[in-house]
Amino acid sequence: MWTTLAIRGVKPFTVLLLLTAFAHGQTTSTLKDAYKGILRIGVSVNTPQFEGRDPVGDRIIESEFNQISPENALKWQAVHPDTDTYTFDEADKYVAFGEKHKMFIVGHCLVWHSQTPRSVFVDEDGKPLTREALLQHMRDHILKVVGRYKGRIGGWDVVNEALNDDGTMRQSQWYKIIGEDFVAKAFEYAHEADPNAELYYNDYGLEGEAKRRGAVALMRKLQAAGVPITGIGLQSHVHLDTPDATTEAKTIEAFAALGLKVNISELDVDVLPRTTRTDSADVSATAAATANSNPYTSGLPEEMQQALARRYGELFRVFVEHHASMGRVTLWGVTDRESWLNNFPTRGRTNYPLLFDRQGKPKPAFHAVLDAARTPAAAGNQPQTSGDGWVGSWASSPQLVEPQNRPPQPGLAGNTLRQVVHLSAGGAEIRLRLSNEFGTHPMVLDELHVAVPVASTAKMVMAAPGSGAEGVIPTTGEIRPATDTAVTFGGKSSVTVEPGAFVLSDPIALAVQPLSDLAVTFLGGTMPTEISGHPGSRATSFLTAGNAVSSATLPNAVSFDHWYVLDGVDVRGNTSRGSLVALGDSITDGRGSITNGNTRWTNFLAQRFNAETPIANVGVLNEGIGGNCILRGGLGPTALSRFDRDVIGQTGVKWVLIFEGVNDIGGTRAAAAKGEVSTVADEIILSLQRFIATAHAHGIRAYGATITPFGHSGYDSPSTQSDRAKVNHWIRTSGKFDGVVDFDKAVRSEKDPTVLDATADSGDHLHLSSEGYKRMAAAIDLNYFSP
Ligand code: XIL
Repeated sequence: MWTTLAIRGVKPFTVLLLLTAFAHGQTTSTLKDAYKGILRIGVSVNTPQFEGRDPVGDRIIESEFNQISPENALKWQAVHPDTDTYTFDEADKYVAFGEKHKMFIVGHCLVWHSQTPRSVFVDEDGKPLTREALLQHMRDHILKVVGRYKGRIGGWDVVNEALNDDGTMRQSQWYKIIGEDFVAKAFEYAHEADPNAELYYNDYGLEGEAKRRGAVALMRKLQAAGVPITGIGLQSHVHLDTPDATTEAKTIEAFAALGLKVNISELDVDVLPRTTRTDSADVSATAAATANSNPYTSGLPEEMQQALARRYGELFRVFVEHHASMGRVTLWGVTDRESWLNNFPTRGRTNYPLLFDRQGKPKPAFHAVLDAARTPAAAGNQPQTSGDGWVGSWASSPQLVEPQNRPPQPGLAGNTLRQVVHLSAGGAEIRLRLSNEFGTHPMVLDELHVAVPVASTAKMVMAAPGSGAEGVIPTTGEIRPATDTAVTFGGKSSVTVEPGAFVLSDPIALAVQPLSDLAVTFLGGTMPTEISGHPGSRATSFLTAGNAVSSATLPNAVSFDHWYVLDGVDVRGNTSRGSLVALGDSITDGRGSITNGNTRWTNFLAQRFNAETPIANVGVLNEGIGGNCILRGGLGPTALSRFDRDVIGQTGVKWVLIFEGVNDIGGTRAAAAKGEVSTVADEIILSLQRFIATAHAHGIRAYGATITPFGHSGYDSPSTQSDRAKVNHWIRTSGKFDGVVDFDKAVRSEKDPTVLDATADSGDHLHLSSEGYKRMAAAIDLNYFSP
């Protein structure tokens, strides 16, 4: 009954699922936390951000970074527009912003040829200044600016970009008027103004052989002359392909060998076609747009997204490896929206160089950066927050598939099954769990692939209101071929799973976004008749004859709404706060929700984690089974018998929310009607205590949810109502749980608390509508998931 997915009286009906804009919640584990003890992680900030006019950007800056650089606010033209005029308005706000958030504050930059008024180099008559006069002017500027923020700005880019690409000195006004020692002088003045500040030489393109040699020679010269220089800033405005990781490593090593602290000072990755001959980050470079120079105006293709993630991962692994000689890595901008690379070197393009997209959502590259913090070189420098870093992102509870729910013709053996699951947490890589728990024979999969599916553009078809049936979003099972990735098991493409067993795949290098869909496609070999699966998928699967694991579309497939074999997807390379298991029955399994719509309460909860604590990345694992009981009978293994498998045995689990008992209680109705005294409430309470104890023994926090109303459903009776009241009273008042979620209160009718509120009711007076499921998710206190 519970697993029947028949849809009757289907009428076309379009529904828009609106994500509620929730208030900003708390974020705990972040970029800066992942790199604690390894590197400072910084970002350049612009005026709207430090003036508090960019809430999206500010939220990211505050939660993710522990160092800031001013994108423009401290440049000469900003603070000293005219010989006798200093304007510190913005700069003051920038420094105050950094202090407020207890960040390491960098000053950028004191002496540069660009964004410096021409008037700096001439006298009142427009004649070039003498060496002495320009040195005096430079000293005035440095003493005034550095002096103003003495003890507050921790490090200064003293000289920016003094070198040409060939390693010779740039013929700037500074060089031409003062000579090469303008560099040494600038450092001396800065040291004079704040003897405790770190002082850096900053430049781009130092990965190029000639320029690197020139810079090393210049640094040596400064050091030999006793110039107080602390470190070097490698700007690192890089491309997807250059400079390669080896060159990056070599560059860091070259400066580290001089005893300089190496900082990555302005990191971004240009993903657009080159419009200039060189990769120079010289701000004066401009290039006209060409026919193909702006190809991604409506979004970055998935394969590029993945390439960018790999690129960031590769760079940060180099940084982690060299962290002993490094101080920080600073991203040049918060989100893609405001990156300078939208206008450099060609104006008006749509670039994607940073870790957060235009809406402020973390990109796969963000997860790749987090993941890099876990490379072996980083071990020992940071607290491991979650074992080996794997977190469960999706799960379904396996049960013995009943004959009526078995795969239709042509069957799984020798044929291709494509299943789509909706993830909660994202990550830089994934792994799969497969089950043959109920098989009586070994199960062989000949090949298995994962891919990102093409999102459905079809309109939702909604069941007749009050029918108690799900609505449907039709999908096609199409994948993006560029993301098609083969999965291996111990390096092999085929795998045998013994009866009663499950298997884990090798890590798969496919970056996945939080709340995204994943297509898992396998070619069945020898398959047992007794198949392990999850009939209540509320997601459409596709079965087609022969080997089609890499086919983008499956035009001849038969489709059905069940899952087989696959029982979990883990992710790594996120903030690893761990996962939450939702242990439950059909109400958790999503009966009454929309097929392919992901409107189970667990889906809405995962959305909240991402909307309110966008980088929190808590995995939400749905271990609901339709018709399931805690104690005895029902469909699938009872909660008592599956607790170890479905809760303790999940990946990275830190919290469990137990929401069961309605089927146990409802199941006593007939006996009670005959006069039998029900003991079910006491038995449930005893079991809940057992669950709490087992969870605690494994360091898992246990939360209890009150049982939702079932008045006017087939479970309704005076005795079942009093059992529900008794169990709910115990959940609310016993104090045994680490926290309580009052689902009952969230969805019951105000007039009659024994029935569901009409808008929360799917129509059968027991299961909820999508609106009801959303309300349940909204009732959960996210503070329960702080570390
Ligand atoms: C850029 C800023 O991001 C832009 O907003 C501005 O228009 C030009 O300068 N090297 C540097 C930075 O040292 O100061 C530059 O910043 C980028 C290249």
